[in-house]
Amino acid sequence: MSIHYSLELTIIAAMDYVIRPAKRSDLEAINKIYNREIREGTATWHTEEWSVSERLNWFFSHSGSDTQPIFVCVQGGTVGETLIGFAYLTDYRGSRGGFRYTRESTVYIDTEYQRKGIGKQLLSHLIEEARRLELHVLIAWIDSANVGSILLHESLNFERIGIEPETGYKFGEWRSNVEMSLLLDFESHGKS
Ligand SMILES: CC(C)(COP(=O)(O)OP(=O)(O)OC[C@H]1O[C@@H](n2cnc3c(N)ncnc32)[C@H](O)[C@@H]1OP(=O)(O)O)[C@@H](O)C(=O)NCCC(=O)NCCS
Repeated sequence: MSIHYSLELTIIAAMDYVIRPAKRSDLEAINKIYNREIREGTATWHTEEWSVSERLNWFFSHSGSDTQPIFVCVQGGTVGETLIGFAYLTDYRGSRGGFRYTRESTVYIDTEYQRKGIGKQLLSHLIEEARRLELHVLIAWIDSANVGSILLHESLNFERIGIEPETGYKFGEWRSNVEMSLLLDFESHGKS
């Protein structure tokens, strides 16, 4: 169950978790989650861990406009917050003019906190934000073996719209990409 005080802040009731916009001070924890997936998983096909400066560039390229938001889910505590997941929107295909109402969506949850409903809360928050931004389509690219992520996206009405067979190679195997899409309710025809 979640309580929405505004689109900026969601408190996941009874779990002591809060979803809020990312800050520069979150980047180390974001990198920790992402670099673990680079080292051990196939959700990302990056093979080299991200440095702090790469993550900083990513943060500034997203926070330079408010149309590529980054949200984090943190667990509060008297000695400080623990970052347990993050989700963000990225311009699609380099933000070419005709793609301006489309974004790619991404969500990552720390392995210790998976299967507690947090990924779903974060992705739902991101979808609400996409609607607030009057976007039209969200796209998610997901490793075809990542059943958990495919089911998560389906649970929020994303549909499988295609597959790129064997465009990736990691850990000695060819990997395929499933493309999923969510058509948002907002009617963007006739916009400038
Ligand atoms: C995929 C990921 C974001 C899911 O987040 P999560 O917090 O673990 O998922 P939730 O607990 O919110 O699950 C919501 C629903 O998604 C589906 N789901 C999520 N993980 C699943 C899994 N491992 N197996 C089967 N179904 C799964 C279920 O339908 C689940 O509902 P249920 O628990 O009531 O059955 C998380 O596992 C993760 O960060 N994985 C590594 C990175 C990654 O794959 N990111 C996505 C890149 S596209």
